[in-house]
Amino acid sequence: MSSNPDATPAGATPAEESVHPGSTDPRGEVVIVASSNHGKLAEIRSALPFAHWRFSAASELDAEWPSPDETGETFEDNARIKAVACRERFGMAALADDSGLEVDALDGAPGVYSARFAGPCATDAENNARLLLALADVPDAERTARFRCSIVFIAADGTETVATGTCEGRIGHEPRGEHGFGYDPLFLPDATPGRSMAELTLAEKNEISHRGDALRNLRSELAGE
Ligand code: IMP
Repeated sequence: MSSNPDATPAGATPAEESVHPGSTDPRGEVVIVASSNHGKLAEIRSALPFAHWRFSAASELDAEWPSPDETGETFEDNARIKAVACRERFGMAALADDSGLEVDALDGAPGVYSARFAGPCATDAENNARLLLALADVPDAERTARFRCSIVFIAADGTETVATGTCEGRIGHEPRGEHGFGYDPLFLPDATPGRSMAELTLAEKNEISHRGDALRNLRSELAGE
Protein backbone atom coordinates (compact mmCIF):
# COMPACT_ATOMS: atom_id res chain seq x y z
CA MET A 1 0.00 0.00 0.00
CA SER A 2 1.27 3.49 -0.75
CA SER A 3 2.46 5.53 2.18
CA ASN A 4 1.28 8.68 0.49
CA PRO A 5 -2.40 9.18 1.24
CA ASP A 6 -2.45 12.30 -0.92
CA ALA A 7 -2.08 10.08 -3.97
CA THR A 8 -5.54 8.60 -3.38
CA PRO A 9 -8.17 10.49 -5.41
CA ALA A 10 -11.34 11.78 -3.79
CA GLY A 11 -13.89 9.01 -3.41
CA ALA A 12 -11.38 6.22 -3.82
CA THR A 13 -11.45 3.33 -1.40
CA PRO A 14 -8.43 1.20 -0.61
CA ALA A 15 -8.51 -2.13 -2.40
CA GLU A 16 -7.14 -5.37 -1.04
CA GLU A 17 -4.07 -4.99 -3.25
CA SER A 18 -4.08 -1.22 -3.02
CA VAL A 19 -2.81 0.82 -5.90
CA HIS A 20 -2.93 4.51 -6.39
CA PRO A 21 -3.57 6.23 -9.68
CA GLY A 22 -0.45 7.71 -11.16
CA SER A 23 1.89 5.83 -8.82
CA THR A 24 4.60 3.39 -9.88
CA ASP A 25 3.94 0.02 -8.29
CA PRO A 26 7.03 -2.13 -7.65
CA ARG A 27 4.95 -5.27 -8.13
CA GLY A 28 4.26 -4.33 -11.75
CA GLU A 29 2.15 -2.13 -13.97
CA VAL A 30 -1.42 -1.85 -12.82
CA VAL A 31 -4.21 -2.36 -15.35
CA ILE A 32 -7.65 -1.19 -14.29
CA VAL A 33 -10.53 -3.33 -15.53
CA ALA A 34 -13.75 -1.42 -16.12
CA SER A 35 -15.95 -4.05 -14.49
CA SER A 36 -17.10 -5.15 -11.06
CA ASN A 37 -17.65 -8.73 -12.21
CA HIS A 38 -15.20 -10.94 -10.28
CA GLY A 39 -15.67 -13.84 -12.69
CA LYS A 40 -14.60 -11.63 -15.57
CA LEU A 41 -11.60 -10.37 -13.62
CA ALA A 42 -10.46 -13.93 -12.84
CA GLU A 43 -10.87 -14.87 -16.50
CA ILE A 44 -8.81 -11.85 -17.59
CA ARG A 45 -6.07 -12.60 -15.04
CA SER A 46 -5.68 -16.17 -16.21
CA ALA A 47 -5.85 -15.29 -19.93
CA LEU A 48 -3.24 -12.49 -19.73
CA PRO A 49 -0.52 -13.90 -17.46
CA PHE A 50 2.07 -11.20 -18.14
CA ALA A 51 4.41 -11.18 -15.15
CA HIS A 52 4.70 -7.40 -15.08
CA TRP A 53 0.95 -6.76 -14.97
CA ARG A 54 -1.50 -6.65 -12.07
CA PHE A 55 -5.23 -6.25 -12.62
CA SER A 56 -7.56 -4.30 -10.36
CA ALA A 57 -11.30 -3.73 -10.80
CA ALA A 58 -12.37 -0.09 -11.08
CA SER A 59 -15.00 -0.81 -8.42
CA GLU A 60 -12.28 -1.95 -5.97
CA LEU A 61 -10.50 1.38 -6.30
CA ASP A 62 -13.59 3.54 -6.20
CA ALA A 63 -16.88 1.93 -5.23
CA GLU A 64 -18.65 5.17 -6.18
CA TRP A 65 -17.26 5.32 -9.71
CA PRO A 66 -20.24 5.35 -12.07
CA SER A 67 -19.58 3.14 -15.06
CA PRO A 68 -20.37 5.34 -18.10
CA ASP A 69 -23.55 4.90 -20.15
CA GLU A 70 -23.02 2.41 -22.96
CA THR A 71 -24.33 4.59 -25.79
CA GLY A 72 -22.23 3.16 -28.64
CA GLU A 73 -23.58 1.51 -31.77
CA THR A 74 -21.10 -1.38 -31.67
CA PHE A 75 -19.51 -3.58 -29.01
CA GLU A 76 -16.18 -1.93 -29.78
CA ASP A 77 -17.68 1.57 -29.30
CA ASN A 78 -19.00 0.56 -25.89
CA ALA A 79 -15.77 -1.13 -24.81
CA ARG A 80 -13.87 2.02 -25.82
CA ILE A 81 -16.28 4.31 -23.93
CA LYS A 82 -15.64 2.27 -20.75
CA ALA A 83 -11.86 1.95 -21.24
CA VAL A 84 -11.40 5.68 -21.96
CA ALA A 85 -13.52 6.71 -18.96
CA CYS A 86 -11.60 4.34 -16.73
CA ARG A 87 -8.22 5.62 -17.90
CA GLU A 88 -9.32 9.23 -17.42
CA ARG A 89 -10.60 8.49 -13.91
CA PHE A 90 -7.62 6.50 -12.63
CA GLY A 91 -4.74 7.66 -14.84
CA MET A 92 -3.48 4.14 -15.46
CA ALA A 93 -3.66 1.49 -18.15
CA ALA A 94 -7.26 0.36 -18.63
CA LEU A 95 -9.09 -2.60 -20.13
CA ALA A 96 -12.79 -2.93 -20.94
CA ASP A 97 -14.93 -5.42 -22.81
CA ASP A 98 -18.41 -5.39 -24.24
CA SER A 99 -20.33 -8.34 -25.57
CA GLY A 100 -23.72 -9.58 -26.66
CA LEU A 101 -25.76 -11.90 -28.82
CA GLU A 102 -26.47 -11.53 -32.56
CA VAL A 103 -29.32 -13.59 -34.02
CA ASP A 104 -29.36 -13.88 -37.83
CA ALA A 105 -33.15 -14.25 -38.13
CA LEU A 106 -33.49 -10.97 -36.18
CA ASP A 107 -31.02 -9.08 -38.40
CA GLY A 108 -28.38 -9.14 -35.68
CA ALA A 109 -30.62 -8.19 -32.74
CA PRO A 110 -30.39 -7.95 -29.78
CA GLY A 111 -26.73 -6.94 -30.39
CA VAL A 112 -25.64 -4.02 -28.19
CA TYR A 113 -29.10 -4.13 -26.60
CA SER A 114 -28.59 -7.69 -25.33
CA ALA A 115 -28.79 -6.73 -21.65
CA ARG A 116 -32.00 -4.74 -22.16
CA PHE A 117 -33.75 -6.69 -24.96
CA ALA A 118 -36.98 -7.02 -22.94
CA GLY A 119 -36.73 -3.53 -21.38
CA PRO A 120 -34.36 -1.24 -19.47
CA CYS A 121 -34.28 -3.32 -16.27
CA ALA A 122 -34.99 -6.72 -17.83
CA THR A 123 -33.86 -9.89 -16.08
CA ASP A 124 -32.05 -12.67 -17.94
CA ALA A 125 -35.26 -14.75 -17.80
CA GLU A 126 -37.27 -11.91 -19.37
CA ASN A 127 -34.70 -11.41 -22.14
CA ASN A 128 -34.71 -15.14 -22.85
CA ALA A 129 -38.53 -15.23 -22.95
CA ARG A 130 -38.56 -12.33 -25.39
CA LEU A 131 -36.01 -14.06 -27.59
CA LEU A 132 -38.03 -17.30 -27.68
CA LEU A 133 -41.16 -15.33 -28.61
CA ALA A 134 -39.35 -13.45 -31.39
CA LEU A 135 -38.16 -16.79 -32.84
CA ALA A 136 -41.38 -18.72 -32.29
CA ASP A 137 -41.97 -19.32 -36.00
CA VAL A 138 -38.33 -19.64 -37.04
CA PRO A 139 -37.24 -23.18 -38.03
CA ASP A 140 -34.08 -24.80 -36.66
CA ALA A 141 -31.99 -24.19 -39.78
CA GLU A 142 -32.56 -20.44 -39.48
CA ARG A 143 -31.87 -20.10 -35.75
CA THR A 144 -28.17 -19.40 -36.25
CA ALA A 145 -26.57 -16.89 -33.88
CA ARG A 146 -23.31 -15.88 -32.30
CA PHE A 147 -21.93 -14.20 -29.21
CA ARG A 148 -19.49 -11.40 -29.97
CA CYS A 149 -17.00 -9.70 -27.68
CA SER A 150 -14.79 -6.67 -28.22
CA ILE A 151 -11.99 -5.73 -25.84
CA VAL A 152 -10.26 -2.35 -25.79
CA PHE A 153 -6.95 -2.10 -23.93
CA ILE A 154 -5.35 1.32 -23.43
CA ALA A 155 -1.74 1.15 -22.24
CA ALA A 156 -0.30 3.64 -19.77
CA ASP A 157 1.22 5.59 -22.70
CA GLY A 158 -2.20 5.83 -24.40
CA THR A 159 -1.59 3.17 -27.06
CA GLU A 160 -4.82 1.37 -27.89
CA THR A 161 -5.16 -2.31 -28.76
CA VAL A 162 -8.48 -3.82 -29.87
CA ALA A 163 -9.29 -7.52 -29.96
CA THR A 164 -12.48 -9.33 -30.89
CA GLY A 165 -13.87 -12.80 -30.40
CA THR A 166 -16.90 -14.80 -31.50
CA CYS A 167 -18.71 -17.98 -30.55
CA GLU A 168 -21.00 -19.48 -33.21
CA GLY A 169 -24.12 -21.47 -32.43
CA ARG A 170 -27.91 -21.68 -32.61
CA ILE A 171 -30.84 -20.63 -30.44
CA GLY A 172 -32.68 -23.57 -28.86
CA HIS A 173 -36.39 -23.93 -28.14
CA GLU A 174 -36.29 -23.94 -24.34
CA PRO A 175 -33.82 -22.93 -21.61
CA ARG A 176 -31.41 -25.72 -20.56
CA GLY A 177 -28.67 -25.83 -17.93
CA GLU A 178 -27.87 -24.07 -14.69
CA HIS A 179 -24.46 -22.48 -15.31
CA GLY A 180 -23.47 -19.15 -16.81
CA PHE A 181 -25.72 -16.14 -17.22
CA GLY A 182 -27.64 -14.14 -19.81
CA TYR A 183 -28.62 -16.13 -22.90
CA ASP A 184 -26.48 -19.17 -22.01
CA PRO A 185 -29.49 -21.49 -21.39
CA LEU A 186 -30.82 -20.85 -24.93
CA PHE A 187 -27.49 -20.82 -26.77
CA LEU A 188 -26.33 -24.09 -28.36
CA PRO A 189 -22.66 -23.64 -29.33
CA ASP A 190 -21.53 -25.38 -32.53
CA ALA A 191 -18.44 -26.49 -30.59
CA THR A 192 -20.43 -28.51 -28.00
CA PRO A 193 -23.10 -30.49 -29.89
CA GLY A 194 -26.05 -31.49 -27.70
CA ARG A 195 -25.21 -29.12 -24.86
CA SER A 196 -26.30 -25.55 -24.22
CA MET A 197 -23.78 -22.96 -23.04
CA ALA A 198 -25.42 -23.17 -19.59
CA GLU A 199 -24.68 -26.91 -19.46
CA LEU A 200 -20.91 -26.30 -19.72
CA THR A 201 -18.57 -25.89 -16.78
CA LEU A 202 -16.91 -22.50 -16.49
CA ALA A 203 -13.62 -23.93 -17.78
CA GLU A 204 -15.39 -25.49 -20.78
CA LYS A 205 -17.19 -22.21 -21.50
CA ASN A 206 -13.96 -20.18 -21.29
CA GLU A 207 -12.36 -22.49 -23.88
CA ILE A 208 -14.99 -21.78 -26.53
CA SER A 209 -16.57 -18.46 -25.52
CA HIS A 210 -16.42 -15.17 -27.38
CA ARG A 211 -14.71 -13.55 -24.37
CA GLY A 212 -12.12 -16.35 -24.15
CA ASP A 213 -11.49 -15.96 -27.88
CA ALA A 214 -11.11 -12.16 -27.61
CA LEU A 215 -8.75 -12.51 -24.64
CA ARG A 216 -6.57 -15.03 -26.49
CA ASN A 217 -6.47 -12.68 -29.49
CA LEU A 218 -5.55 -9.74 -27.24
CA ARG A 219 -2.80 -11.79 -25.64
CA SER A 220 -1.35 -12.64 -29.08
CA GLU A 221 -1.53 -8.98 -30.15
CA LEU A 222 0.19 -7.73 -27.00
CA ALA A 223 2.82 -10.45 -27.13
CA GLY A 224 3.53 -9.47 -30.74
CA GLU A 225 2.65 -12.96 -32.03
P1 IMP B 1 -21.66 -7.54 -21.04
O1 IMP B 1 -20.88 -7.03 -22.19
O2 IMP B 1 -20.92 -8.60 -20.28
O3 IMP B 1 -22.21 -6.44 -20.19
O4 IMP B 1 -22.91 -8.31 -21.66
C1 IMP B 1 -24.08 -7.65 -22.15
C2 IMP B 1 -25.20 -8.66 -22.27
O5 IMP B 1 -24.91 -9.58 -23.33
C3 IMP B 1 -25.40 -9.53 -21.04
O6 IMP B 1 -26.28 -8.89 -20.12
C4 IMP B 1 -26.01 -10.78 -21.64
O7 IMP B 1 -27.40 -10.61 -21.86
C5 IMP B 1 -25.32 -10.89 -22.97
N1 IMP B 1 -24.10 -11.73 -22.85
C6 IMP B 1 -22.81 -11.30 -22.97
N2 IMP B 1 -21.96 -12.33 -22.78
C7 IMP B 1 -22.72 -13.41 -22.54
C8 IMP B 1 -22.41 -14.77 -22.24
O8 IMP B 1 -21.25 -15.20 -22.14
N3 IMP B 1 -23.47 -15.58 -22.05
C9 IMP B 1 -24.76 -15.16 -22.13
N4 IMP B 1 -25.11 -13.91 -22.37
C10 IMP B 1 -24.09 -13.03 -22.57
